[in-house]
Amino acid sequence: MSDVPENYFGEEIAAEYDKTAEHDPMFAPEAINPVVDFLAELAGDGRALELGIGTGRIAMPLAERGVAVHGIDLSEEMVARLRAKPGSEEIGVTIGDFATTKVDGTFTLAYLVYNTIQNLTTQDAQVACFQNVAAHLEPGGCFVIEVGLPALQRLPFGETIRPFALGETRLGFDTYDVANQGLVSHHYTRTADGTFKYSWGPFRYVWPSELDLMARIAGMAPRERWSGWKGEPFTSESTKLVAVWEKTGV
Ligand SMILES: C[S@@+](CC[C@H](N)C(=O)[O-])C[C@H]1O[C@@H](n2cnc3c(N)ncnc32)[C@H](O)[C@@H]1O
Repeated sequence: MSDVPENYFGEEIAAEYDKTAEHDPMFAPEAINPVVDFLAELAGDGRALELGIGTGRIAMPLAERGVAVHGIDLSEEMVARLRAKPGSEEIGVTIGDFATTKVDGTFTLAYLVYNTIQNLTTQDAQVACFQNVAAHLEPGGCFVIEVGLPALQRLPFGETIRPFALGETRLGFDTYDVANQGLVSHHYTRTADGTFKYSWGPFRYVWPSELDLMARIAGMAPRERWSGWKGEPFTSESTKLVAVWEKTGV
């Protein structure tokens, strides 16, 4: 567990990470505002810790709401984009692996959005992440995860490939390694000269029940489970999880 994970968000990815709403709905105010509403309410008057803060897609508007935000991220390149934004000096950032990196002080809220728990590609690392979060939370503090659920019900028996984007400018495929809960996302993006640029990233997909157990191991109890940031019910058809755990005990 002492190995530093590889940085898959280097210069090339970081330079193009922030997008307009029309290019990526995750950057639209309609997507971001409900996240910020949800997190600001849980943070209350306390501090918030974002694991994988990146370019501040969520941290910046949350800080603008008056929440004191601190972030952890592996990628100097992503954090440089955050630092280029006016107002980001209010946000503290520690460079390191969010599964193990410690920061000063305690928090009423920790959060890990946009599927980023899956960037930890072993169960050990994901459990360590929950334990690291618990070590930073005040009693009663909350940990929030937003993560897409694996599309295994759509994967025919014995097949390993699922397309997730198919268009003139973008193609995307996930390849599943079911025995190991492994997933690799392959992205083909058309460039200005008409050629396609390839990028990929490895993930470990997770289940709500497994995350609940990781939380319990770390001293947190399930508190809420939704399929979206506006309190959409979590059902058997849900493709996404927004879960909240609360630190129990002292
Ligand atoms: C998909 S981006 C999400 C960024 C931001 N949270 C957002 O919602 O836009 C994932 C971020 O997590 C960071 N990251 C991935 N694995 C990490 C790890 N083990 N420790 C710290 N940061 C990590 C990446 O560098 C990247 O900035």
